[in-house]
Amino acid sequence: MHSSLSQKHNQKSILSDDNLRKKLEFNRKQSEKQDQTELIEKCTQEFKYENCSHQYWNPIEFSLLHGTYLWEQASEKQKILLNQIYWIAYYSQIISAEVATIFFNQVAGAGLFAMEDFKILCDALDLESRQERCHINAFKTISEEAEWELFGERIFSYPMRGVFEHPTVIHWSNNQLKAQIRNLKLYGYVICASNSPFLASQYLTIRGIRTLNGKLVQHKLSKYYSGAANKETISIPSAISYHHFIDESFHFNTSKTIGLELLDYLPKPNTFDKWIVNKLISGCQEDHNSFSVAINGIFWHDPALFKQIHKILKSKFFGFDSKDIKYIMEKCFTEESDGMHGSYATYKTARESYIMFLDNLDFVEANNRKMHIMSKTSVEATLKTNKQALKKFFKNNEI
Ligand SMILES: [Fe+2]
Ligand SMILES: [Fe+2]
Repeated sequence: MHSSLSQKHNQKSILSDDNLRKKLEFNRKQSEKQDQTELIEKCTQEFKYENCSHQYWNPIEFSLLHGTYLWEQASEKQKILLNQIYWIAYYSQIISAEVATIFFNQVAGAGLFAMEDFKILCDALDLESRQERCHINAFKTISEEAEWELFGERIFSYPMRGVFEHPTVIHWSNNQLKAQIRNLKLYGYVICASNSPFLASQYLTIRGIRTLNGKLVQHKLSKYYSGAANKETISIPSAISYHHFIDESFHFNTSKTIGLELLDYLPKPNTFDKWIVNKLISGCQEDHNSFSVAINGIFWHDPALFKQIHKILKSKFFGFDSKDIKYIMEKCFTEESDGMHGSYATYKTARESYIMFLDNLDFVEANNRKMHIMSKTSVEATLKTNKQALKKFFKNNEI
């Protein structure tokens, strides 16, 4: 009866299509049944760095500077450390992405709730926001405790901050003007999306693209736990990678459903709406237009990490002097290596998956459809950028 009333208001209800309704209800039941919140909270409470300080937390190839000169020279103990630091750096980046997700889930929910029968999807977004708070708490607690035990100071972790503060260390230029322009664009989107179901729905397309690479990498990270014969012996951070991946798989389904599959149930976009969505997609391309030799699977500019890598090499775990550090950093960042090619391969896979993800959206412009901005990134260009930036870094820090 509800759906027929909706149709009287000239709106096609998402619940009027039996297959779609069944799919949405099934997704809701499964995501509630498989909610990992309690397990993640238990893991977080039980975490003690000393209990897993001797263990790998990720598959070995997901280690800081894996496949580079440093990795080849490192002792087993140092390799374990580089593996743990990868976990800390990776999930510290995820924190900033998930802080943004919580905010924009709310905005999208507000825009979509104006449509008949969208309650089921708005409820899904609420559940996801609650889960993200639990994820953030887990990543933050573990990263901070591990860094404190290891270094006595922060390396990749950071104090809690809001969505409009500068996000992690993705960009090395740290340009204040650019950050302010970015925020102004976001404010504009928030105002428009909370009043436009189409624009609200397209946050989920953007979220889908932005998390697609995460899904590929986190699936591999989760296998360290799920593939272990004896799970009792696996570290808590590895278990968290697994539990997090389960929650995120449902989040990705929501992104796909709302962003790509429900457009027929929403008012048609006008030229301005389409222009905004294309701007958002090219913004994703710009954010993802580099790959990191240091951390395979994150699209960070390596120069943004020089300071942290320098600190790690100088720490008691490596104990290198300035001359050694200079030599090692040059070898790792300015010469080709298996590590660099591995990161580039992940980058190319991500780009291809973005292209496939957007394939059915007819309003996506050619530049975005082909991920043109991302296609300019190459090993040669990365080496060139790293060479220039490293020279500057040594000079500025008198190394
Ligand atoms: Fe999450
Ligand atoms: Fe998520």
